[in-house]
Amino acid sequence: MEDHIRYDSDSHVLDLLDQRLLPTQESRVLCQSTADIVTALKDMVVRGAPAIGVTAAWGCVLALREVRQEPLWRAALEDRLERIASARPTAVNLRWAVERMRRLWTARAEADPDTLLSLWLEEAAAMQAEDIAACKALGRFGAERIRPGDTIMTHCNAGALATAGYGTALGVIRAAWENGKNIRVIANETRPFLQGARLTAYELHKNGIPVTVACDNACALLMRRGMVQCVVVGADRIAANGDTANKIGTCGVALLAREHGIPFYVAAPLSTIDRSIASGADIPIEERPAREVTHVGDTRICPDGVPVFNFAFDVTPAALITGIVTEQGVLEPPYSQSIPDAFARAGR
Ligand code: MRU
Repeated sequence: MEDHIRYDSDSHVLDLLDQRLLPTQESRVLCQSTADIVTALKDMVVRGAPAIGVTAAWGCVLALREVRQEPLWRAALEDRLERIASARPTAVNLRWAVERMRRLWTARAEADPDTLLSLWLEEAAAMQAEDIAACKALGRFGAERIRPGDTIMTHCNAGALATAGYGTALGVIRAAWENGKNIRVIANETRPFLQGARLTAYELHKNGIPVTVACDNACALLMRRGMVQCVVVGADRIAANGDTANKIGTCGVALLAREHGIPFYVAAPLSTIDRSIASGADIPIEERPAREVTHVGDTRICPDGVPVFNFAFDVTPAALITGIVTEQGVLEPPYSQSIPDAFARAGR
């Protein structure tokens, strides 16, 4: 599933698989402007840290096309880039992608809009291809930690849909499966957006990898009964000390894994590591509309007028993480040392 984010460089349309409607409908949303991109990101037509990074890169291309005839195109472009970068606050990949495009622009500050457009078209395509390569590489490293017969629990969706393709946590699972390890997966349903029940189950089932969906609150029972041998999740932002923001509920899974002596891995490309922040305390946590909690589809499940919490992410302390699986290998604690080492190996 490598075509859920598709840019057509003849028509200049970004064609996205609408993840809100899966698994029952496979329909597409076409983006032609900055406003379309920002709406698709905020409404979660496309979601998952690396996937929104790649979408943002194509969004920069669309933004440039929009302003390229204007006399003050530079200022107009800056404004649009900021709108894209701030569409969702927690996943660092979004701003990372926009900054990467901006760096190219700074390096060629004299370039006219048409020259910049061809540079950015190449850069966005490169970012999409690099993300798939990073997922495949980290998948291979992570698969070494999986034993034949293991049941792996995952939370949210860190699969092909959440990346440019292949996936991070599901990349590890996919690689283990491709290596012939006879594994099974438990997908936590992941209230309220149900990324586990809808998207992880959809991807794995489609690929013939055995998956069972469980309510989020079944986690303790499943672990206590010895039904989980390993946990692998994705990440939205990893701080310099290894603290990791991921979908709400992840920290609870990590605490339960520690209590039951189960290894807990985070799988993410280096683009998800934000070395500018010292710890998870500095990671902004997105709060999303109440309706995602008060309703299931069109049905209200909570009395009108009752407030709800809808924090979209939580932070798992580094101390609960057995290893961070990256395209540079599995990083071990202390992460304040293994993270800079991984960046040095990558020449960044
Ligand atoms: O709100 P979402 O669906 O964008 O959150 C996604 C997650 O939390 C994923 O686990 C994370 O982005 C890793 S994706 C490879």
